[in-house]
Amino acid sequence: MHTICCIPGDGIGHEVVPAARRVLEAAELPLRFVDAEAGWGTFERLGTSVPEATVKAVQDADATLAGAFTAPSATIKGFQGAIRYLRRTLDLYANVRPARTRPVPGCFTGVDMLMVRENTEGLYVEFERRYHDIAIADVKISRAASARIARVAAQLARQRRGLVHVVHKANVLPITSGLFLDTAMDVIRREYPDVQAVDVIVDACAMKLVREPETFDVLVTTNLFGDILSDLMAGLVGGLGIAPSANLGDRHAIFEPVHGSAPDIAGRGVANPTATILTACMMLDHLGMRDEAARLEAAVDRVLEHGPRTRDLGGDADTATFTDVVIEAYLDA
Ligand code: NAI
Ligand code: MG
Repeated sequence: MHTICCIPGDGIGHEVVPAARRVLEAAELPLRFVDAEAGWGTFERLGTSVPEATVKAVQDADATLAGAFTAPSATIKGFQGAIRYLRRTLDLYANVRPARTRPVPGCFTGVDMLMVRENTEGLYVEFERRYHDIAIADVKISRAASARIARVAAQLARQRRGLVHVVHKANVLPITSGLFLDTAMDVIRREYPDVQAVDVIVDACAMKLVREPETFDVLVTTNLFGDILSDLMAGLVGGLGIAPSANLGDRHAIFEPVHGSAPDIAGRGVANPTATILTACMMLDHLGMRDEAARLEAAVDRVLEHGPRTRDLGGDADTATFTDVVIEAYLDA
C-alpha cells in the first residue's frame, strides 16, 4: 500500500486533483490518500502558504499529487510561492516535464521529448532588491546542482534515444550560465559516454523547438529557461490542459500538472483534468506500477482521440463528464 498526499492548492487545483483522485480510486490500486493544504488560500487563512503539517505530510507520504498554487504578481509581506517553497525545502531538484504527440487538434506529430529543469536555484532563489528606480535579482548557479541535474538528464536519456541538449545562455552570461554549461557537458561526457550531449543557446533552442521538435529527446537547463521552454513544449502538443510534470528529489516527490490555478476558468467545472491524470500516471510509474500507468495513459489517449473533449481542446465536456469517460475507458481495457 502506498500513501499519496493530495494537495489541491488553489483555483482549478480543487477541480483537477479530485478528478484524478477519482480515477485512481476507481482503478482500485493499492493507494491510501491523505489530504494536505498549501497555497494562496491557505496563506489568507493561516498567514503561511505552506504549513509545517503539509511539509510533514509530503515527507511522510510515498508521493504527493498537487494541483496548482496561486502566486500574485506583487510583493506580499510574509508570502512565499507554495510550490517553489516545497521544491527548495524538500530538495526536489529535478523538474521532469514530458511533451509528446497526443491525438488532439493542433498537435505536432512525431514529438517525444522531455524537459529536465533544475528546480532549486537559478533566478528562482527569489533574491530581489530595489534601489529607488533600479531593481536587481541574483542568479545562483552551483557546480553541485548543475552536475546532479545533468546526471538525471543523462540517466533518462539512456532509457530513451540517448540525446541530451544542454540549454544555456553562456554567450551573454559566461560566469553563471557558463558554469552550468561546462559542468553539464563535462558530467555527461565523462560519466555517460553512451549519451550524446549537444549544447544549444536558449533563444535558438526556442526557435528549433517550434521548427523541428521531433529532433529533440531530453533537454536539460536552468530554472527560468526550463519554466518558459516547458510551457512552449506543452503548446506544441496540445497545450497546458494536457501537460504533466514531476518534481523529484532523492527522498521525496511531488507530481503536479504544468499549468497554474487558471483563475479565468476556476470554479466553473470546465478545467481539463488530463494534465493531472497524466501526472498521476507519472506518479504510478515512479511508485513501480508501470503496467497500471501505461494502461491509464492509453485510456486517456483513447478518450482524447474519440472524445468527448474539454473546451480547451475544442469540445464541450465538463471536468466531471470527461473524468467519467476516462474511468470507463480504463475499466473497459
Ligand atoms: P495558468 O496555467 O493558470 O493558465 C494559463 C491559461 O491556460 C489560462 O487561460 C487557463 O485558463 C488555461 N489553462 C490552464 N490549465 C488549464 C486546464 N487544466 N484546463 C483548461 N485550461 C487551462 O497560468 P497563469 O494564468 O499565468 O497563472 C495563474 C496563476 O497560477 C498565477 O497565480 C500563477 O502564479 C499560478 N501558477 C502556478 C503554477 C504552479 O503551481 N506550478 C504554474 C503556473 C502558474
Ligand atoms: Mg511555469
